[in-house]
Amino acid sequence: MFPDFKNKILLAPMEDVTEPPFRLICKRLGADILYTEFISSEGLIRDARKALAKLTFYEEERPLAIQIFGGNEESMEEAAKICESVNPDFIDINCGCWVKDVALRGAGAGLLKDLPRMGRIAESVMKSTSLPVTLKTRLGWDENSIVIVDVAKMLESIGIKALTVHCRLRGQGNKGDADWSWVKRIKDAGVTIPIILNGNVKTPEDVKHVFGNFHPDAVMIGQGAIQNPWIFKQAKSIMENGSYDEPHLHEKIDTCITHLKLNCELKGEKYGTMEFRKHYAGYLKGLPHISTHRMELMQYLELEPIIKKLGQLKEMYAGAESSSQLL
Ligand SMILES: Cc1cc2nc3c(=O)[nH]c(=O)nc-3n(C[C@H](O)[C@H](O)[C@H](O)COP(=O)(O)O)c2cc1C
Repeated sequence: MFPDFKNKILLAPMEDVTEPPFRLICKRLGADILYTEFISSEGLIRDARKALAKLTFYEEERPLAIQIFGGNEESMEEAAKICESVNPDFIDINCGCWVKDVALRGAGAGLLKDLPRMGRIAESVMKSTSLPVTLKTRLGWDENSIVIVDVAKMLESIGIKALTVHCRLRGQGNKGDADWSWVKRIKDAGVTIPIILNGNVKTPEDVKHVFGNFHPDAVMIGQGAIQNPWIFKQAKSIMENGSYDEPHLHEKIDTCITHLKLNCELKGEKYGTMEFRKHYAGYLKGLPHISTHRMELMQYLELEPIIKKLGQLKEMYAGAESSSQLL
């Protein structure tokens, strides 16, 4: 079912990161709405194994969007039909990817240079599916072409159901300042579809700040959730009660193990452990002298020694937990 976006906190789509296990962990930690990583429309219609594997999700993840990208209307139409067959809650179109292979081929953020084509692609997708369709993009290609207010008006007029605004320019990639004020400017321009603010929201305090000052319907968090999957719960707590707790070390390690096991169930032990390496830093953040232990964890390609090592870390650092060392 298409979700109500009002005051929700969303996990951003991130390639090779927001796979089903990480999404499920974030959901259990308070993320309200989830997205698959972007999936190539060409890959889907070619029946490419890698693209099709990305359509997988757990029922517990709902509401969930499948995100697709591409620069060709027919391919996007076909891809949307394939997505519909696995029955997500909605489909999101990526018009924000900045990497050359995508943006310079007229897909992702490349569509910010040709708004009529962005509109036609959105219309093709909407025509081919009965699912609600949303879109994610950036402020503009560069500082001389910030087009987001016009984009929002155009997308609303053709029937797009919600718009995520990554408040950076194409040239910024995923780093650096984000200009959140554009969200308020879109609202002030009279756009009424839900507007989701994204970009550089890294802490629970940031979430409260952007809701309070720029009035988005929802906030979407990317890299901040890799560093701290508890950010969703914490942001809700600070907005409701004015404060939030840090998770205890045992909770962090238990969640890390659950996440790792889900990864291995999905990908097998070798790839499940290998591709988990990017997550250790977030779960073990703040522990003194942790880097050698983290390096050791990254060497293992089997579950058992990793779980054993994580158990040892739990005991080793238990004494430090109550002290300020962990903060
Ligand atoms: C590793 C990585 C992969 C990403 N993959 C996608 C993607 O598949 N689809 C998408 O719309 N955005 C993608 N993004 C962009 C994020 O969704 C988000 O817009 C961006 O990171 C800004 O939010 P943040 O500052 O909270 O991280 C990716 C970002 C990162 C860091």
